[in-house]
Amino acid sequence: MNKPIWIKHAAQLATLASNVDGPRSKTAMSDLIIIEDGSVWIESGVIKAVGTTDELGNTYRNVIDSAEIIDASNSLVTPGLVDPHTHVVYGGSREREFEMRLQGSTYIDIMNKGGGIHATTNMTREATEQELIQQAIARLDSFLEHGVTTIEGKSGYGLNLETELKQLKVIKELQQMHSIDLVATFMGAHAVPKEFKGREEEYVDHIIYDMLPAIAQSNLAQFIDVFCEKGVFTFEQSKRIIEAGKHYGLIPKIHADEIVNTKGAELAAEVGAISAEHLLKTSNQGIKKMAEAGTIACLLPATALYLREQSAQGRKMIDHGVPVAISTDCNPGSSPTTSMPLVMNLACINMRLTPAEALTAATYNAACAINQQHKVGSLEAGKQADIVLWKVKNYQELQYLFGVNHVKAVWKKGVKVVD
Ligand code: NIG
Ligand code: FE
Repeated sequence: MNKPIWIKHAAQLATLASNVDGPRSKTAMSDLIIIEDGSVWIESGVIKAVGTTDELGNTYRNVIDSAEIIDASNSLVTPGLVDPHTHVVYGGSREREFEMRLQGSTYIDIMNKGGGIHATTNMTREATEQELIQQAIARLDSFLEHGVTTIEGKSGYGLNLETELKQLKVIKELQQMHSIDLVATFMGAHAVPKEFKGREEEYVDHIIYDMLPAIAQSNLAQFIDVFCEKGVFTFEQSKRIIEAGKHYGLIPKIHADEIVNTKGAELAAEVGAISAEHLLKTSNQGIKKMAEAGTIACLLPATALYLREQSAQGRKMIDHGVPVAISTDCNPGSSPTTSMPLVMNLACINMRLTPAEALTAATYNAACAINQQHKVGSLEAGKQADIVLWKVKNYQELQYLFGVNHVKAVWKKGVKVVD
């Protein structure tokens, strides 16, 4: 058996603990439950106790000699960050489109001309499973170096059954090969593939009657996601796909109101989606509906920055009672980043979340957005020992010194994976 680990003397231990189940909203997003001179005792990959250094020193006094001791003086300790929305498995890259957008093309123009999601779909269809794995591992390594220990990953660059399954299989293999935990989302409704151009309804039927039964049978996905957007899938089409996904036991998520308001937030509330993503153009009515339904707003401020769009109204959503999570949206087009620390910084600067709210949005609420809050997202006895040690003395400094990777060490299930 591995030695117990005792992390002690943390300047601040942000536990994110609470006796409330489910996502935090309003003032509960600010309550990090901080322990000064904090410490954590870990055994067999699991958190056994959290408290002050004095308290745990007393509890474990007879076995301290058997433990590996980590001195966290002058450092902040938090739960491993959780990224609840990524498109981490894809082939190729699209740096030329970045240049084109800076020269005036829009995201949707590029996509309609066969670039964007279509370009990545071609490259993903052509890639072997091994190639996709190799490319994704580099991204997962980078996530880990930035303090992320659990992520969601979507299919959606196959847009045919064979390649959608290939992407989901790759996610499962990555889960076995890499220390990061992954949960998978089926997103066959990411775009209408070029072979169905002009036959959008037929593609919707194809997803519902051909793809979904096979995806459900494969057991490779827990969630279903749809890009509900003008020129992609309409409100009605998105609803049909989501309802069919629910029939197969998949939990809905929706890319909603990113470029144009198509009442995606209202749809997410209506179908009982666990989260709605993007929400740049969501109306007050959409915010109200999400608050009433308890839908988590999964906000992606790096995507807004990269597309040079106004960010979602994170401040307003929190003030109106919507639980907020944040994510990189890591993808080759609108947000090729793996930095959750940068996303937290942007959540503060561009959406006016407070430093405490940004941390809740990147840990506990992010875990809720992928239904993993019973395992990860806070430092509490019984949870996985997914822990980050930061080179800053408090949680405010983590957001204040922005654009820098402050990670000093990361433990995943009690194993040190970044040092
Ligand atoms: O979440 N908005 C749709 N999908 C992705 C972008 C995918 C891509 O451009 O490849 C997103 O931003
Ligand atoms: Fe996305």
